[in-house]
Amino acid sequence: MHLPSRLAARLRNPGLFNKLMSATEAAALIPLGGNVGMSGFTGAGHPKAVPPALAARLTALHAAGQRDARINVWTGASTAPELDGALAKALGMGMRLPYQSDPTCRQRINAGQMHYTDLHLSHVAPAARSGVLGPLDVAVIEVVGILPDGSLIPSTSVGNNQTWLDMAQQIILEVNLQQNPAMQGMHDIEPPMPAAPNRQPLALRHPHERMGQPFLRCDPAKVVAIVMTDHPDRHTSFAVPDEITSRIAGHLIEFFQHEVAVGRMPAQLLPLQSGVGNIANAVMAGLNQGPFEQMTAYTEVLQDGMLAMLRSGKLAFASATAISLSPQAAAEFNANIDFYRERILLRSQEMSNHPELVRRLGVVAMNAMIEADIYGNVNSSHIMGSGIMNGIGGSGDFARNACLSIFMTPSLAKGGKISCIVPMVSHHDHTEHDVQVIVTEHGLADLRGLAPTQRARLIVQRCAHPRFRDALLDYLSRASDSGSSLHTPHLLDEALSWHSRYLRTGQM
Ligand code: COA
Repeated sequence: MHLPSRLAARLRNPGLFNKLMSATEAAALIPLGGNVGMSGFTGAGHPKAVPPALAARLTALHAAGQRDARINVWTGASTAPELDGALAKALGMGMRLPYQSDPTCRQRINAGQMHYTDLHLSHVAPAARSGVLGPLDVAVIEVVGILPDGSLIPSTSVGNNQTWLDMAQQIILEVNLQQNPAMQGMHDIEPPMPAAPNRQPLALRHPHERMGQPFLRCDPAKVVAIVMTDHPDRHTSFAVPDEITSRIAGHLIEFFQHEVAVGRMPAQLLPLQSGVGNIANAVMAGLNQGPFEQMTAYTEVLQDGMLAMLRSGKLAFASATAISLSPQAAAEFNANIDFYRERILLRSQEMSNHPELVRRLGVVAMNAMIEADIYGNVNSSHIMGSGIMNGIGGSGDFARNACLSIFMTPSLAKGGKISCIVPMVSHHDHTEHDVQVIVTEHGLADLRGLAPTQRARLIVQRCAHPRFRDALLDYLSRASDSGSSLHTPHLLDEALSWHSRYLRTGQM
């Protein structure tokens, strides 16, 4: 078969030419009820043609009366409207794991129309390999190209792709012509990971070091379909840093300066991990204007903020599992790919978030949250205790093992109707033991070494919005007067009353 040169440059294993087909034909190969491992992490590197074709197939089956036509979807993390959105709209997912952030998917989960299993991102691949999630029927993986020996040039995210390729009975590859072929060399795919007790130490002492090779291993005999696509990643724009996010960034920079001054951190800081969303992006913008040079990042996602820091030279090197950029930053990334290839490594999420590596490197973890309570317990994932927002993502991987674990939020949400500092969090993702610093626009509470009631006073005084401070201190004081268990004083009948008041009246 003769391929046009644009395709032939990406598909260099002639033995696979006969697997080329349309997305609709490929989607028809996916077994109903099966477990499907898809690529994709924070809107980057997900398959863009097969999922919507599969959603159309499932919708047609539902219309024909086959109401239980569904699949289970495993990904790296969140994807995009054409994957999570399309399949959720079609009621095509029986179960989804791990992190998601799609509005339709969220609505379906909260309506009880699909299951969602929210795992720590570093746990997903080992859990899958152990068999607890069941067999993996099909892997649908976006790649930049296929090499003569069948190995694959990874795309803008690595996620769990190597594990899905290893485990799946059948493989569908989407070769995306939009993804820059000059990314080749920017990835580090670890060798096969044995299970305990045969694990070996991970040989990585700096974010720029490699443990494996730049390609994904793939058995060509398992490839049942290749679909050519030409669609961009999700490319969500970030909000311009405002007064609130800039103040949060300012408090953090002042804190880091103090840590350097007292000798707890080197002048270039320790490797940074920065979470998802606008606040995390704004903090990076603040650091880009700040006093620190030659910083490094050992993180999960590279957003616009870190890309700008690499460009300015403030950041010397960044290791991640995905690059999730706005349209403008993506254009700049592609125009200067040779520069970035020297300064970025993308790894499997099992490695980007690995507890051993996070601990060894001494990562400074900075993640946004929904709410914290007066004792420093953090809720990253649930609204009013019951509704999922996105998921825990990698926040637990980093917070539990970081040298410094920092959580940040504006002090108020929903136009001031909600205090993000509450007597008791309505869902626990990170316990007080894993939370060392809390920051809002009003200030930073360094909780290290403090007992619960000391933490409570500091959090209220430094971080709560002034409008809610008296009520929080009043709660603490009445809880402290209430009985004999004064280590972490609570009034159990009242602890979640702020949330129930909001649900009842629309105001905490
Ligand atoms: N109570 C109720 N709703 C709240 C809230 C609170 N205390 N705090 C925030 N919200 C709502 C906001 O109003 C907003 O709702 P909307 O979408 O209806 O406007 C939504 O939560 C998102 O908040 P926003 O202020 O836009 O923050 P963000 O985009 O920075 O996201 C998280 C914050 C916590 C949702 C996000 O960072 C996340 O999903 N984190 C968990 C995973 C994680 O940390 N990953 C990184 C690890 S590497």
